Amino acid sequence: MFVWLGAGLVGCNAQSVATPTTQFSPQQLAEVPAEYKGKTMPATSSAEHGAILYATHCASCHGEKGLGDGPAGLALMPPPAPIANSVKLMGDEYLFWRVSEGGTPFGTAMPAWKTLSEQDRWDVLRYLHTLGEAQPSQ
Ligand code: HEC
Repeated sequence: MFVWLGAGLVGCNAQSVATPTTQFSPQQLAEVPAEYKGKTMPATSSAEHGAILYATHCASCHGEKGLGDGPAGLALMPPPAPIANSVKLMGDEYLFWRVSEGGTPFGTAMPAWKTLSEQDRWDVLRYLHTLGEAQPSQ
């Protein structure tokens, strides 16, 4: 009986590690560079267009629903962030900076997406907000 209970608890812990949490990463505590401060989502941004960009450029690592579980991200350390969660915690200027400059300042595998136009980056962020809204609230 005791042994069975112990195994149950271990299984429970393993699962809570895999579930996106509200924990902050070191990157999230970094200060947004002056260049990105005050950036706001343009009213013209399109979640529909963002969804296409997300499927093409982001889902491989961040997963279809933004939980950080895409196949290309499995071996990365640090792993892809559960960005459906990040959008609920972090402001758009932080997110826009992180999408634009990627992991360059931090030495992570997150690519820099300055190759996309500003409008495209905002469209992706607009779509990320819809992924965040699809998550149960914490
Ligand atoms: C090669 C895999 C890979 C791809 C493709 C990728 N990312 Fe990432 N991303 C990461 C990793 C790894 C991290 C965590 C490390 C970090 O924050 O730099 C991350 C972090 C982020 C963060 C910061 C989240 C936080 O909580 O701090 C955002 C926002 C983000 N990615 C958005 C995107 C978007 C949008 C795309 C597509 C345009 C994308 N990523 C494509 C690997 C990837």
